[in-house]
Amino acid sequence: MCGIVAYIGGEAALPRLIEGLRRLEYRGYDSAGVAVLDGEGLWVRKDVGRVSELAGHLQGGPGTQVGIAHTRWATHGGVTQPNAHPHTDGTGRIAVVHNGIIENSSEIRARLGKRGVTFKSETDTEVLPHLIREAYKGDPLQAVRDALAHVRGTYGIAVVFADAPDVLVVARNGSPLVVGLGRGETVVASDPQAVVAHTRQVVYLQDKEIALVTREGVQVSTLEGREVQLPVETLDGDYGLASKEGFPHFMLKEIHEQPRSIRRALRGRLQLEEGNAKLGGLNMTPRDLVAVNSVISLGCGTSFHAGMAAAMAIEALARVPARAEIASEFRYRHPIIPRDTLYFAISQSGETADTLGAVQEVQLKGGEVMGVVNVVGSTIARTCARGVYVHSGPEIAVASTKAFTSQVAAMLVYTLMMARCTNLSLEQGQLVAKALDAVPGAVAHYLSEPGPIEEAVERIAKARYVLFLGRGFSYPVALEGALKLKEIAYIPSEGYPAGEMKHGPIAMLDPGTPVVFVCPRDGQTEKAISNMMEVKARGAWLIVIHTRGDDEVARLADLAIPVPETADFASPLVTVLPLQLIAYHAGLALGRDVDKPRNLAKSVTVE
Ligand code: AGP
Repeated sequence: MCGIVAYIGGEAALPRLIEGLRRLEYRGYDSAGVAVLDGEGLWVRKDVGRVSELAGHLQGGPGTQVGIAHTRWATHGGVTQPNAHPHTDGTGRIAVVHNGIIENSSEIRARLGKRGVTFKSETDTEVLPHLIREAYKGDPLQAVRDALAHVRGTYGIAVVFADAPDVLVVARNGSPLVVGLGRGETVVASDPQAVVAHTRQVVYLQDKEIALVTREGVQVSTLEGREVQLPVETLDGDYGLASKEGFPHFMLKEIHEQPRSIRRALRGRLQLEEGNAKLGGLNMTPRDLVAVNSVISLGCGTSFHAGMAAAMAIEALARVPARAEIASEFRYRHPIIPRDTLYFAISQSGETADTLGAVQEVQLKGGEVMGVVNVVGSTIARTCARGVYVHSGPEIAVASTKAFTSQVAAMLVYTLMMARCTNLSLEQGQLVAKALDAVPGAVAHYLSEPGPIEEAVERIAKARYVLFLGRGFSYPVALEGALKLKEIAYIPSEGYPAGEMKHGPIAMLDPGTPVVFVCPRDGQTEKAISNMMEVKARGAWLIVIHTRGDDEVARLADLAIPVPETADFASPLVTVLPLQLIAYHAGLALGRDVDKPRNLAKSVTVE
């Protein structure tokens, strides 16, 4: 989603801003722009399309050393050149880039309109440079502070003033900003990825804070004007410029990385001898674990599906009630937060506004939320004081693959830890630990022999509609398979619990409709076989993901894709793999931009 980079230093700003934007491209965007000082004024270029296209139009741009830049993911107003950021005031001497949403922008527009301000875009953001212009009396920091007093909503902003060439002003409320403190240069960005090329020494702005940024550093204060000393932190994650490592796309690379990424999620956490596990970041004693009377996972999209798979495992192994909730719905239904419920906020990016909102609601009501996050230092990780990093490494493709399996793996480690205290004997715990330890090997084995994916794709790429089915642990996998196919190939598809098909979606089946049935051998296989018969009786084309060697199931399929045997609770970690590959290859077959599918953002920082 939208990205911000701002630079003030001793080198030409334009190439540095473009490099920063390139590092944010993975977040997803539809237009990009820059504003840099130009002699007496500002030089602004922005357009719809890729950062590389924008870079192509910057020849002859000024070599000045101060500027701001942005990648936009449209919310208010269509994908057009005027709606791209930066936005300027009427004189063109103040420029603003903004992430987030100004909720009262219509009222402000109407007010400013009456005072003779004309607007060039349909965006909510454009009110900001006009408000700042009205407030500007020669003090940039005070002008932004006064302007923000009129604003309701979320923002991360960076502002450049032609009349104050030695400063930038940035502010945050609900949209992350990190300030990189280099030698004689300061870089501000919405994501540490865009800062690390300059420095690893950073401060994270907090909500309702504003900062004056100079070449020498940053002075932070609250919006009310109280000075703040933020701790300088060192970025120690893997922020290298992501490489495809010889794969044609990040998505395929990330699918193939899963044996390693799952191993990282498990490493040092499983205790094979003790039949137990340890997640230091949760800081929970056995007494704390047994005091938990229910578990709720909060997340969106793929992360919600990971939470569903985890909840089923917690109920099965720990015998503690557990469920997953869609974070975007959670806080608006006035949820009851029982004291003895443990919440997990599952998020790859750690910046998803809906999930963050759910976390804050739980915390406000006195509940305990643990973060299950990939991006180190992200807002959700920081907001939940305790939690677990899933360590899948940077996920660049917009569609989540390796983060899903790492999230499930990390939650299964928690499951074992809890189950060992509540329900499992030493021997049972050892079996669970051993089963988890075997997963990376099973994943590697599958990826080396993925089965007839091409044949499946041949059918699916031509389909009008695809139905994904699964029972029990395979139901969240069916949901994830359908989500992936929609995201990457734009093929209408839905995931359903297989037993529910006869209550509606069966009406969608024509002769030849592809139905992908996720059916590893487990306690529900017999029931699943009956559901497969119902599919076959309608002449649909049945693709079955089954346990290698399970001929009873394979025989029923028009196309059978075998996966290695696992314990039932760990099966999502292998059954999801063919579905990821099907989505990837179907997307390619249809000429889609698989790493950056249309309309999607990697990190969804608006509600
Ligand atoms: C995954 O392929 C999607 N792009 C999307 O559903 C994603 O999982 C969701 O937006 C949540 O993101 P998060 O894990 O970063 O919070």
